[in-house]
Amino acid sequence: MKNGELWTDNSGASIQAHGGCVIKYGKTWYWYGENKGVDNLPGKNQVPFVGISCYSSPNLRDWQFEGNVLEANKTDSGSPIHTSRVCERPKVIYNPKNKNFALWIHLDNEDYTFARAGVAVSGSPTGPFEFLAVHHANRTDCRDMTVFQDTDGRAYLVHSGDWNKTLYISQLNDDFTGFTGLFTKVLVDQEREAPALLHHNDLYYLVSSGCTGWKPNSMLYAVNTQLLCGARWKLIDNPCSGPGYRQTFGAQSACIFCAGGQPYLLLDHWDPKNLRQSGYSILPIHINGDYMEILWRDCFEGI
Ligand code: DGJ
Repeated sequence: MKNGELWTDNSGASIQAHGGCVIKYGKTWYWYGENKGVDNLPGKNQVPFVGISCYSSPNLRDWQFEGNVLEANKTDSGSPIHTSRVCERPKVIYNPKNKNFALWIHLDNEDYTFARAGVAVSGSPTGPFEFLAVHHANRTDCRDMTVFQDTDGRAYLVHSGDWNKTLYISQLNDDFTGFTGLFTKVLVDQEREAPALLHHNDLYYLVSSGCTGWKPNSMLYAVNTQLLCGARWKLIDNPCSGPGYRQTFGAQSACIFCAGGQPYLLLDHWDPKNLRQSGYSILPIHINGDYMEILWRDCFEGI
């Protein structure tokens, strides 16, 4: 798989799983993302909402399309997942208590002023997911997001809020479908989005991008020993190194996942004029103490 390019699934079709996440359940990897497999709306850097796709793989290299696990609503224009709406950055987490999967998404209207979090659930990793609720998390707007499960089993939604000025880490309830009310503000007024979180050797690492629409910018990472102590998040630097490191190799962070103890970053190489053509990269993350390094690699060969 050549990093930066649009990858194909086992049938030869382009993988439509943008802004997504990779999880492992049993022996299988699942990749969820935005299915942008239609033309851009005329003159816009936007596509109609098609659905949230799912791909499965035994090795992170050979991907089989499992269908859209959440389909756009095509009939009810008032639905938060109507095809005229924006539904981005899907993140899926397994809930062991309920033996089901929760899917969180950024829900918006065409001009990104609605800015809410949506949640759907399914008993199977390959869906279908039932749409449950729209959340106005912490009474702030909710845009780019990721979900994170800590070692104690507690789960969190990490999301851009305050009109993208500040990141929030919000604790999820036992069902992973709502909030406990416990939250912290991170990197206040630093205007970060595309968050992805990693816990490694007693330290939390939060990577994020700046807010420049589809245009790439510098990734930055921050560290903390305590997830919910907002003021203690310490912004370190750009972890990228290699050609194009200042603009995150022309990409933007989507999620972090671990395979065999090795953390990886999944990235999107957005093509705003033709979003369905946007490519992907998977790069290994190297950690040494509180130092994080992400080196460019031409290829990702799976595991
Ligand atoms: C950057 C976000 O990270 C993307 O998910 C998308 O919302 C674009 N902005 C839209 O411009």
